[in-house]
Amino acid sequence: MFSKLAPLQRFAELSGGAHSSVASATSVKTVQGPPTSDYIFERESKCGVHNYHPLPVALERGKCIYLWDVEGRKYFDFLSSYSAVNQGHCHPKIVNALKSQGNKLTFTSRAFYNNVLGEYEEYITKLFNYHEVLPMNTGMEAGETACKLAHRWGYTVKRIQKHKAKVVLAAGNFWGRTLFAISSSTDPTSYDGFGPFMPGFDVIPCNDLPALEHAFQNPKVAVFVVEPIQGEVDPGYLMGAPDLYIADEIQSGLARTGRWLAVDHEDVRPDIVLLGKALSGVVLWDDDIMLTIKLGEYGSTYGGNPLGCRVAIVALEVLEENLAENAEKMGIILVNEPMKLPSNVVTAELLNAIVIKETKDCDAWKVCLRLQDYGLLAKPTHGDIINEIINKPILSF
Ligand SMILES: Cc1ncc(COP(=O)(O)O)c(C=O)c1O
Repeated sequence: MFSKLAPLQRFAELSGGAHSSVASATSVKTVQGPPTSDYIFERESKCGVHNYHPLPVALERGKCIYLWDVEGRKYFDFLSSYSAVNQGHCHPKIVNALKSQGNKLTFTSRAFYNNVLGEYEEYITKLFNYHEVLPMNTGMEAGETACKLAHRWGYTVKRIQKHKAKVVLAAGNFWGRTLFAISSSTDPTSYDGFGPFMPGFDVIPCNDLPALEHAFQNPKVAVFVVEPIQGEVDPGYLMGAPDLYIADEIQSGLARTGRWLAVDHEDVRPDIVLLGKALSGVVLWDDDIMLTIKLGEYGSTYGGNPLGCRVAIVALEVLEENLAENAEKMGIILVNEPMKLPSNVVTAELLNAIVIKETKDCDAWKVCLRLQDYGLLAKPTHGDIINEIINKPILSF
C-alpha cells in the first residue's frame, strides 16, 4: 500500500530535546520511509502550539469531496474545512489558475498596480452588486476592517462623538480569535483570561427585535453586525436591521445555503458584506461608506496580490457553475436524513449541526471517531455538537 503513496523519502525524526536553539531543534535521527500517522501526530504535538484538538487522522491528499490519509485510507470530507473548500479539494480549474499565475507573477505589493487586482475587483463587485471591494487575508481581518469602517462612517455621517462609536452584535457571535473579535464574544472559552478587552461593543440577545431597536436608540451606535445564520434566526429579524448593517457572510455566504448570500433568502441588502472561507476574505460596500476611508488608512502586505486575485476569480467562477443549486439539493437530503436519528437536529435551511444527546459513554467526539472508522470526517464542538456537517456545493470532477 505504501508504494501507492508518496515515494520513499528520508525524513527527520525529531529528538525529544527542548528547542533551546535552532541547532538543537535540528538535532535529528534520520529514518527511511514515508511518515506514518502516529509520527505525524507526535511531531505536531511536540513542535506545534496545542490550540486545536484534531481528530486522529493525518491527511495527505484530496480530490473533490474525498480525502486520503498517509496510509491511503479514503474518507468523505464532511467538514470541507469549514466551507473553505466549497469548490472541492484541488479543483482542477483552481489548481491550473494557481499554476499558471504562479508561473507569471505572484506578488507585487500595492506599491504598484498589477494586471489582476482590477479584473478581480470588477468581477466580484458586479457579481454581488456592490460598488467596491477590499481584499482581505482572513475573515477576522474582514470583520475588524468592517468595524473600523463603521466607526469612521459613524463619525463622519452619523456625527457620533469622536472615539465613542459602538458596534452592536448578537450574543453567541463568532468572528475569530483576535483580541478585537473576542472582545464581543459571549463564549468564555474564547475570551477568558485574555482581557483587557476592546471597548465599544454592545452585545444584545440574538433574534430579539425589540432589543435591537432599543440598542439603536443609543445615538453612539454606528452599526449592527450579524451573521445571517447564527443558530436559528427568525424570518424578518434581518429586515429589522437599522442604519448601518453589516452581514457577516463568512460562514453562510458563497453558495452554501443555495443562494450566493444567506441574506438573499430574505431579500435584504446589507450595507457591508463580509466574505471569507472559500474566497479567503473580502469586504464589499457601496460608495457612501467607502468615501469615509482615505489614502493610507487601510492596507495589508498580501491583500490584493495577483496570485490571490487570480485564484479568487476562478474560485468564484467555479461557484457560479450551479453549485448553489447543488447545495440546495444536497441540503434537503442532509436535513431529512439526520431527522431520523434519535437526536435534535439544528438546521437553518442548509447549514446543519447535529446535537448529540450526551451520555456517560457517548459524546460528539466519540461519534466523530466512529464516523472516522466508517470513512467520514466531521468535527465535534462544545461536547455535544457535530457541526459543519456541510452540504457541499461541489458537484463531481
Ligand atoms: C462567521 C465567521 N466570521 C468570521 C470568521 C473568521 O474567519 P477566519 O478564520 O478566516 O479569520 C469565522 C471563522 O470561522 C466565522 O465563522
